[in-house]
Amino acid sequence: MKQVDLLYSGKAKSVYRTDDPGVYIMKFRDDITAFDGGKKDTLGGKGRYNAEVSSFFFRYLEENGIKTHYLSSVDPTAIAVRSLTMIPLEVIVRNVAAGSIVRNYPFREGEVLDPAVIVIDYKSDAHHDPMLNDDLIYALGLATPEELDQIKAMALAVNIVLSEYLAARGITLVDFKLEFGKTNDEIVVGDEISMDSMRLWDKETGASLDKDVYRFNKGDVMETYAGVAKRILSPPGEESA
Ligand code: TYD
Repeated sequence: MKQVDLLYSGKAKSVYRTDDPGVYIMKFRDDITAFDGGKKDTLGGKGRYNAEVSSFFFRYLEENGIKTHYLSSVDPTAIAVRSLTMIPLEVIVRNVAAGSIVRNYPFREGEVLDPAVIVIDYKSDAHHDPMLNDDLIYALGLATPEELDQIKAMALAVNIVLSEYLAARGITLVDFKLEFGKTNDEIVVGDEISMDSMRLWDKETGASLDKDVYRFNKGDVMETYAGVAKRILSPPGEESA
């Protein structure tokens, strides 16, 4: 399999075609953005940490029976993935209130949401990713009721698997965003699962271990990403070794 041409370049990742039409290469760049692209930087090494964590979580989800686009690791900053027709939904699962749900609704930051709350945004830069509801998703033709049920069930399954994994390493999975795509009419988890797409809090200190460190200048972003990647990739109890 050989990388051919650039298919698409987003804010922090680029996707390349390969000589196999069923396979793309997803490259995690060192770029980081926040606030709808209003804050931008390039942080050396960031792509590698997000690629490592994403690859690990995709493999872990597959081991737990959840289908993803992940095929293999290509190099430290790139993974081979199944080519998907992406569904333009940002499916956010929230276990603890933080971020936009606190700004937009009367939740207190840190309030536990049990059962977890799913929020789905329309992935559209032109429309600034507005929140959807089920009827809007059907009316816009973005998913059928059966597909949406499956997407929500998969998102909740991912939540259980990742929450338990992270909890064993002293990390609370506050919230995260998934994207889904279709391949041969099968719905699978696509995009990434990284510190850019999750909100992670240290269980002991409450410290942010994710892109909030960048959004809100809470500390050294690369030190945070390196530290949390190490904790995620290590067995429980060995994360501070
Ligand atoms: P959210 O609280 O809605 O947005 P903000 O980060 O602006 O406060 O985000 C919930 C989670 O989903 C958070 O972990 C970041 C992730 N997310 C993305 O990865 N991309 C996005 O476009 C959005 C809206 C959220």
